[in-house]
Amino acid sequence: MSATPRTILVTSALPYANGPIHIGHLVEYLQTDIWVRFQKLRGHNCCFVCADDAHGTPIMLRADAEGISPETLLDRVWQEHRADFDDFHIEFDNYHTTHSEENREYANLIYERLRDGGHIARRTISQAYDPEREMFLPDRFIRGNCPRCGAADQYGDSCEACGATYDPTDLKNPRSVLSGATPVERESEHYFVKLADFGTELEAWLAGKDGVSPVQPEIANKLQDWLSTGLRDWDISRDAPYFGFEIPDAPGKYFYVWLDAPIGYIASFKQLCERDENFGFDAYWGPDSKAELYHFIGKDIAYFHTLFWPAQLMGAGFRAPSAVFCHGFLTVDGQKMSKSRGTFIRARTYLEHLNPEYLRYYFACKLGNGIDDLDLNLDDFSQRVNSDLVGKLVNIASRCAGFINKRFDGMLSAELAEPELYNHFISRGEPIAALFEGREFGKAVREIMALADRANQYIDEKKPWVLAKAEDQEAEVQAVCSMGLNLFRIMLLYLKPVLPAMAARAEDFLQVPAMDWSHLEAPLLNHRVAPFKALLVRVEDAQVEAMVAASREEMPAELAAVTATGPLVDEPLAEEISFADFAKIDLRVARIAAAEGVEGADKLLRLSLDLGGEERTVLAGIKSAYEPADLVGRHTVMVANLAPRKMRFGTSEGMVLAAGPGGDELWLLAPDAGAVPGMRIK
Ligand code: MSP
Ligand code: ZN
Repeated sequence: MSATPRTILVTSALPYANGPIHIGHLVEYLQTDIWVRFQKLRGHNCCFVCADDAHGTPIMLRADAEGISPETLLDRVWQEHRADFDDFHIEFDNYHTTHSEENREYANLIYERLRDGGHIARRTISQAYDPEREMFLPDRFIRGNCPRCGAADQYGDSCEACGATYDPTDLKNPRSVLSGATPVERESEHYFVKLADFGTELEAWLAGKDGVSPVQPEIANKLQDWLSTGLRDWDISRDAPYFGFEIPDAPGKYFYVWLDAPIGYIASFKQLCERDENFGFDAYWGPDSKAELYHFIGKDIAYFHTLFWPAQLMGAGFRAPSAVFCHGFLTVDGQKMSKSRGTFIRARTYLEHLNPEYLRYYFACKLGNGIDDLDLNLDDFSQRVNSDLVGKLVNIASRCAGFINKRFDGMLSAELAEPELYNHFISRGEPIAALFEGREFGKAVREIMALADRANQYIDEKKPWVLAKAEDQEAEVQAVCSMGLNLFRIMLLYLKPVLPAMAARAEDFLQVPAMDWSHLEAPLLNHRVAPFKALLVRVEDAQVEAMVAASREEMPAELAAVTATGPLVDEPLAEEISFADFAKIDLRVARIAAAEGVEGADKLLRLSLDLGGEERTVLAGIKSAYEPADLVGRHTVMVANLAPRKMRFGTSEGMVLAAGPGGDELWLLAPDAGAVPGMRIK
């Protein structure tokens, strides 16, 4: 291991303060935590900071709807996030919020330096404005009919029914989701960062030091594209009302949340410096800093971290990141996390049913250094944990500890029975460390499990339980079991970044101080261990099932929360109609005879509906909420006299009815049992 300790600052992306931590987020926080713990075990000065991302329109609206101040909301969520992270053993050196004085100070400073360097432009732009709420509307807050296929209730940027993309101004019957009012166009002056000013510097940054790129190859390619097509100005201002920092020389204008969010990394570190004088601010963030700076992020926010953020730092005289490490997205059982399937699992719900170290281990098994998505397969999850951790690793300790505790009063032998085997285990330390260093956690775990197999094989060959029956084999039993416990200790050290709590329990049992990488060479000899207690118990399938069921049950509560906290799904009531108007709509019970995806369409399913003698083909935008196979045989409700509509992917002969805001939050209507296909609904 390297002789001089490195100085390293690590961050995870700042979670939004408008929602709970879920297992998708945990991919990132666990990946970062494992890497940081590894660096610390290697004796490096490694420091891990993070914060809540507290600004922006959704947080303002949510606090509004709950009738509380944004600050009250932020405090509550901050506590919840902290508790979730703590309970997953994610150990930050500091955890702050972007709604803090430190962050205001650095946001202002960076803005002023950019401005004084001539990198800020001002321009009047025209945007959709809600005349009732008296605020400008982000695209997401405008809905209307698709300009191409006419589908109702589509977002301002794309149609879920036909896949068209367009500008919010193209929508037919546009309305604000906040008030239902028709948006008007209104002009306002905005502030922009002239990113093109940093083109050359960004190119140089991307080329890397000594040819080592600061980003992964896929990200480097995208960046090259962006750089070569020319960098557009970046809009960093928002008009009041907005929850954020007011721009110092522009009353009524606020920094866009993504301007001050990454500055939260600096602010959190600054708060740490104020508390602990071992950390010097400039040594980490100054232009001549020798410290290493790494950001762990999801691939969805690469643009912000590899273009805007380095440009902000460059323009304001700070150092640029040493590297930005992107990871992929989590799927559960091969699909996007889904509330209706019960796979949108909150950190807290997981903790109510399962040990956090199971997930730490499972994600470690799945993580590499690339940006591919990773899958949590719930069956594989239990199997892996049970066979690797309980069946292989804990098993070695429990088999050997029994004899050592009972027959030798906890005393280990004075000599190693198999020095060569011990040395083999030690010799795997550097290759395993190199894998952790390169974020190849899955490969590191496989190496360690190969050692566990080897250790079990040793015990199986020596059969201490047979030796124990012979009168004259006492010393041999002690030697074999002492050997087993020494091998166990080495493996647990290698796994300590992944399983810190289990390692602590093992240290207790082995009666050794907290292990780090420098403790390896010397075996434990003539040393007394404590009575053995279970280090980890098996995952039961019932626990996993209970967690999924609880996550599914949270769904209505969750939705209620959304309704209570934001008018987003709280649609304004449509215009009053007469009974005659209603009677024009012919609603029928239909049986879903067949369901399949539609090639080329992300959101659509092609349903064959049986109307009791008549068959209809309907294209429904429900793919993100339902598995086609789960729908077959179900009864639902359809509009049977709707004129056929030609869509890009074929003609739709009617419509099925579903409730919910869209995406995976959709619930298909169904009649009570007994209704038969073809019955009219009146
Ligand atoms: N607030 C911004 C980040 C600002 S950083 C200056 C944000 N917040 S987030 O809460 O939406 O996401 C936080 C991190 O979790 C992001 O890196 C994001 O990519 C990651 N993930 C969120 N959902 C995820 C999955 N389903 N799977 C893997 N990572 C996920 O973005
Ligand atoms: Zn459309």
